Amino acid sequence: MRIADAASIEDLARLARKRLPRIVFDYLEGGSEDEVTLRANRTAFARVCLVPEVLTGHSRRDLRATLLGQQFALPVLIGPTGLSGIFWPDADVALARAAASVGAGFVLSTPANTAIERVAAACPGTIWFQLYPWGERAHWLRLIERAGACGVRTLIVTVDSLVAGKRERDLRNRFAHEVRYTPRAIWDGLTHPRWLATVWLRRGVPHFENISEFLPPGADARTLAEFTRARRNAGFSWSDLGWIREHWSGPLIVKGILTAADAARAADAGVNGVVVSNHGGRQLDGAQATLDALPAVAAKAGHALTVLVDGGIRRGSDVVKAIALGARGVLLGRATLYGLAAGGEAGVARALVILRDEIERVLALIGCATIADVSARHVEVAGAHTLRTRTGCGADE
Ligand SMILES: Cc1cc2nc3c(=O)[nH]c(=O)nc-3n(C[C@H](O)[C@H](O)[C@H](O)COP(=O)(O)O)c2cc1C
Repeated sequence: MRIADAASIEDLARLARKRLPRIVFDYLEGGSEDEVTLRANRTAFARVCLVPEVLTGHSRRDLRATLLGQQFALPVLIGPTGLSGIFWPDADVALARAAASVGAGFVLSTPANTAIERVAAACPGTIWFQLYPWGERAHWLRLIERAGACGVRTLIVTVDSLVAGKRERDLRNRFAHEVRYTPRAIWDGLTHPRWLATVWLRRGVPHFENISEFLPPGADARTLAEFTRARRNAGFSWSDLGWIREHWSGPLIVKGILTAADAARAADAGVNGVVVSNHGGRQLDGAQATLDALPAVAAKAGHALTVLVDGGIRRGSDVVKAIALGARGVLLGRATLYGLAAGGEAGVARALVILRDEIERVLALIGCATIADVSARHVEVAGAHTLRTRTGCGADE
């Protein structure tokens, strides 16, 4: 199948799986421990039914959304992902340019493989920066000053990764921000010649251009892995977040919130938004699915904070369900990484166009003209822990 023929995100996932060595695909796909939360993120969407209103007389759809003062053509940003250069050369630029091509946003990760300055210069769209509070405050300050100097207005601080998740696929594969040359890894690479030729032989080990200045000269992925193991800052706290608030004048978002109580603390700390996220099931296995956590967070903090959500979004209908349950917008993780791994910028753009078309179609089918028209009356949720309950809509509980 060619990229242009991919009809769904799942089609792109199949292409990505074919092109990537198993070890690399496992890094993209995997979650922590038993991957219960990884699966729960997806099944939560299946428990939510869409409730159509017919004959509303709207013949046009408008997907635009304003998030923290910035306008997007659709309520979607590509979320931060580190080490994307292992999937495609110049991956961060490919992701950012594809996002700009459809008017979506892009969030550059701290351990991206392309410096924020290079991404900003190559991309005409809206870029946000995601900070991992690794190392010392001087490091955080340096990174956010660089981001600000590139025109980034919105900063996301990820707070669910103060220790590394136990990703057992990566442990078995001996993959930790680095590939070790075991016989299995070598065979895996040799049997995926398209990946080997475009990524590994052409570019070699991806470097970490945002943080390379904090690492010893010539540092590669292995050095980064050691740095993050030793300097992850497990003790990072609300007072550290308050310090970042003092040093960042633009909108500030905390990513990795799952409870109304923590959302309220975030609001008290002066942040402007939260991403309801469990890191795509890659950190705390057993944590609640994000779609299940969303309504309580939105109910508690929706007036004070811009609430975004990520985790398991693979369909336009997932985006609409998230908005109906209180999100103002969504972040994508694997959905656009599948596109990236399948075909670089063209693959990412295909993923975004698929999702945009699906969102538009769903809006039409539920009788909405705009994203702002979508509300809680457009969903029914099976299960006790939800806004409204009704069984019998294909729930998998
Ligand atoms: C390969 C990969 C790398 C990631 N790297 C980061 C990162 O550097 N910073 C971050 O905040 N989240 C990171 N995440 C989490 C994503 O931003 C997002 O929360 C998650 O992927 C959403 O779930 P989904 O993949 O099911 O859409 C990463 C996720 C993946 C799959």
